Amino acid sequence: MNTYGRFPLELVRGKGVWVWDSQGRRYLDGVAGIAVCTLGHSSPVMRRALNRQLRKLQHVSNLYRIPEQEQLAAWITANSCADAVFFCNSGAEANEGAIKLARKHGHQGRGISSAAGPLILTAQASFHGRTLAAVTATGQPKYHQGFEPMVQGFRYFPYNDTAAFEALLAECEKDGPRVAAVMLEPLQGEGGVNPGDPAFFRRVRELCDQHNILLIFDEVQVGVGRTGRLWGYQKLGVEPDAFTLAKGLGGGFPIGALCVKASADLLRPGEHASTFGGNPMACRAGLTVAEELVRRNLPAHAEAMGALLQQQLNALAARHPELVEGSRGWGLLQGLVLREGGPAAIDVVKAAIEQGLLLVPAGSNVVRFVPPLTIKPRHIRTAVKRLEQALLACQTPTPSAS
Ligand SMILES: Cc1ncc(COP(=O)(O)O)c(C=O)c1O
Repeated sequence: MNTYGRFPLELVRGKGVWVWDSQGRRYLDGVAGIAVCTLGHSSPVMRRALNRQLRKLQHVSNLYRIPEQEQLAAWITANSCADAVFFCNSGAEANEGAIKLARKHGHQGRGISSAAGPLILTAQASFHGRTLAAVTATGQPKYHQGFEPMVQGFRYFPYNDTAAFEALLAECEKDGPRVAAVMLEPLQGEGGVNPGDPAFFRRVRELCDQHNILLIFDEVQVGVGRTGRLWGYQKLGVEPDAFTLAKGLGGGFPIGALCVKASADLLRPGEHASTFGGNPMACRAGLTVAEELVRRNLPAHAEAMGALLQQQLNALAARHPELVEGSRGWGLLQGLVLREGGPAAIDVVKAAIEQGLLLVPAGSNVVRFVPPLTIKPRHIRTAVKRLEQALLACQTPTPSAS
């Protein structure tokens, strides 16, 4: 179906931070499948691990114990605030699980009647996926248009706005318990690379504790080392009750996860399931990403490379103040913020393709970098040079004086 506005580019091969199209042209990949290919393309360790797993066991049902799944869950729980994990296949699906968990907590933990219906509060400009409940959670009306009626029980507030959040919570709770959960990205990726404000998140945590409301973080884009820490919540110093993962966890193999603290481990046999979720191949991919993250200390590398990228983007902004406002982000999730009235993000992304560089817009005026975590300083310098050429190429020519 015609659901994607695709670039006229057919990618057929990849190695490390590079991909090649069917014409043999090479591109520096600042997209990495949108924050997915953690270890780069065709990583030798990933190839070996998946080949071995394919020869051993490809798929079995969740009716049986799956050792690779237990090992990956053990790694996640040993290295995060979570105590239990449910595996699925994508970010939207992980968030669907989180939404069901929230509703169960609303009924069971807060005693919200089915008639009133539990509410979930999410942020404007958020992005939580495209399935019906996840897209309703997404606080961007453009993604709802044409698909109404949306799922009931969601309310929205401006991200990082403590006063607006407090007012919405008070309004929702004025006649008794109504709010089951608050769901937030630690940094809004798709909504424009907006980092969370630690003071705002601390206050949300405090209010959730006071009211026995679940705090759920969508770590689908920020999780698994990208921000310079293993998990985005570590950048904020605020722990959620539950968080979701996908994208970078499988390094290019589809996997999603709903990770919960013991206090939020509420789903019982028969209440949630997935045929493919946590199958041996996907969990072997996840385990390989996990092992490499630790062995190569990739979060620290992402932090250092992110600092270099941000410094180079700021220098670029200083050279072209008429086009670029600046940059923002954490680790290897950085956004170049374009000035209003200048070229749109999508035009810069198109011009970058011409320069042999892949980037992705985040909203209308931010160009996003989410490269493999294995990127090296020389790649970052090349990327920023190519981006500068792209910016200059799409600068609207000023009319001549003559
Ligand atoms: C924060 C966040 N949540 C959820 C999703 C949806 O993930 P998926 O496309 O795997 O369903 C995305 C995808 O961009 C995302 O960035």
